[in-house]
Amino acid sequence: MTPAAYDAIILGAGAAGMMAAAVAGQRGVRVLLVDHADEPGRKILISGGGRCNFTNLHTAPDRVLSANPHFARSALARYTPADFIALVDRYRIAWHEKTLGQLFCDGSARQIVAMLRDECAGGGVDWSLGEPVHAIDHADSRFRVEIAARAAAAPQLVLATGGPSIPQMGASGFAYDVARRFGLKVVEPRPALVPLTLGGDEALFRSLSGVATGVVAKAGVGAFREAALFTHKGLSGPAILQVSSYWRPGQAVAIDFMPDRAAGWLVAEKRVHPRATMQSAIGQTLPGRLAEALAGRIALPGNLADLTDRMLADAEGQLAAWVFHPSGTEGFAKAEVTIGGIATDMLSQKTMAARTVPGLFAIGEAVDVTGWLGGYNFQWAWASGVACGESLWIGAAPRQA
Ligand code: FDA
Repeated sequence: MTPAAYDAIILGAGAAGMMAAAVAGQRGVRVLLVDHADEPGRKILISGGGRCNFTNLHTAPDRVLSANPHFARSALARYTPADFIALVDRYRIAWHEKTLGQLFCDGSARQIVAMLRDECAGGGVDWSLGEPVHAIDHADSRFRVEIAARAAAAPQLVLATGGPSIPQMGASGFAYDVARRFGLKVVEPRPALVPLTLGGDEALFRSLSGVATGVVAKAGVGAFREAALFTHKGLSGPAILQVSSYWRPGQAVAIDFMPDRAAGWLVAEKRVHPRATMQSAIGQTLPGRLAEALAGRIALPGNLADLTDRMLADAEGQLAAWVFHPSGTEGFAKAEVTIGGIATDMLSQKTMAARTVPGLFAIGEAVDVTGWLGGYNFQWAWASGVACGESLWIGAAPRQA
């Protein structure tokens, strides 16, 4: 079987793969874009509750996690949120800022996928959808990819198949397997932006399922002020998803349930309302069921007037740094992204090309770059896709990356 000849084969028609294909195609690179799913951009379609939080105005390298946090700097500086907004505006896709710099479509995430498909069409990109990749070979500076009954070959191969989060959607560790085969290192992948589970003594908090409140949550060096939500398995909500990326098994998560209360508020409360109870004092700020659970654990019965200032200061300290010991996470099945991935020291930060394998590239979530919650992951997908798409070359001769 004579393989169809291309300049570049891109594996994975998600956010990063479509962006790279469109940019390269529009430069005249002959691109084949391959995905085992029937339609491209499925994670885009389900993102942001169907409205796609497509970027974040506060994108910066310190809002991504990586073994080398400086790696993402170059690509993020060269393709910014303003660049993606300009593209979205060109397609007259209406959008709004929801909170914390997070930009969403007014309408549907489908508009973003349609836009990217259109951009790919503008670059004459060929598609191969709905069929699995059977084999990848590399010989004589060409990558040969077998897809169902046909084969394609190109001097350049781009790994853009994302990470294994949400395997029920066909997500897999495929990019890692291919990368390892070519001698690239992979930083241990683990679920991120994922709910945490509570067990043992803390399992009692699961009865609060559905209760949400604004907190500051901390794990490791991560600290986030957003909402936390109790679930029937443990803890979720934006604050918890954010700290999950910093959390390691065995570590504690500290939650400030009273981020807006000034120091000494409980003693002051005793002066004003001496007959208040711990539960009613906490209940002024927190939902009733949560106030009841926390007061029960603080276990200082009676009126505030019956308690010493020292006791009240200790209770206040407990509420400001409530320590949970999560038993785990809800795993890749519920993780919005994967932390870890193809090691950045194996890649050029300008082009996303593998340093040791001419013609091999890796972009998007497959790489060890993971953004915070709130549009940062798509911005990395667009930016790394553009960096790669601009560096793919036309013709057979590989050039040094
Ligand atoms: P992506 O996963 O988009 O694409 C990979 C492609 O490769 C897929 O099309 C897949 O089918 C294909 N593929 C996988 N294995 C293959 C194989 N073996 N052969 C061929 N093809 C293969 N981020 C954000 O910034 N804002 C948001 O609002 C959200 N919301 C959100 C919600 C949910 C529920 C999830 C799961 C994730 C998000 N994210 C997000 C994260 C965001 O979706 C993610 O970071 C990007 O889609 C990553 O883009 P990639 O192109 O790298 O992978």
